[in-house]
Amino acid sequence: MKGMVIYYSFSGSTAMFANRLAQQKGWTVKQVTEKKKRTVFGTFIKGTKEARRRQEAEIARFKPDWSGIQAVAIACPIWGGYPAPAFNSIIKLVPKKLPIELYFVSGSGSSAASRAETEQLLKDEGYNIVSYTDVMTKSIAPAPTAKQKAEEAKEEIKEAVAELKEEAAEAVAEIKEEIAEAVEELKDND
Ligand SMILES: Cc1cc2nc3c(=O)[nH]c(=O)nc-3n(C[C@H](O)[C@H](O)[C@H](O)COP(=O)(O)O)c2cc1C
Repeated sequence: MKGMVIYYSFSGSTAMFANRLAQQKGWTVKQVTEKKKRTVFGTFIKGTKEARRRQEAEIARFKPDWSGIQAVAIACPIWGGYPAPAFNSIIKLVPKKLPIELYFVSGSGSSAASRAETEQLLKDEGYNIVSYTDVMTKSIAPAPTAKQKAEEAKEEIKEAVAELKEEAAEAVAEIKEEIAEAVEELKDND
């Protein structure tokens, strides 16, 4: 079966998941981006509000070639318990006759706050949702191994030592300067 994975990702986890899913299925993968780049702060304040209101996002031109496509998978992050606004735009572009698999990526691995409503809304709109899967962010990028953690700790210690050395050198230079000034003053007093 020829299919297409369509995804939106803000910080990369959904992208990683979608690419892996497409590879497993042997489907093509298409990324949807927003016209205006969001800041991290902007996503939390404005993005979450938009998600909760199920508002659409202004997405960059997206015109995939649907010819021969028999199924679609949409992957999107969860913001404030709801699908990120890009999802509301993506779904509108998918031909209703195609079976759609949904994947929602979230830190908690749960979109329970909105799931039932999302499924109902899509059903009412006439979409053919064949599956709904919650994906936990942590399950996408595996936790670092003990060795990787040790390497990271080593790097951090190295950086901290270098910083301390710099600070110590600065302090020594300052003390030297102060001593030189005091010596000059003593000389002047003589
Ligand atoms: C604005 C914002 C709101 C979020 N809200 C939730 C939430 O309500 N529940 C949750 O489990 N995770 C929440 N998360 C975490 C994301 O769903 C999670 O990090 C996801 O992997 C992000 O996907 P991405 O890297 O593809 O953007 C939120 C993240 C952002 C940026």
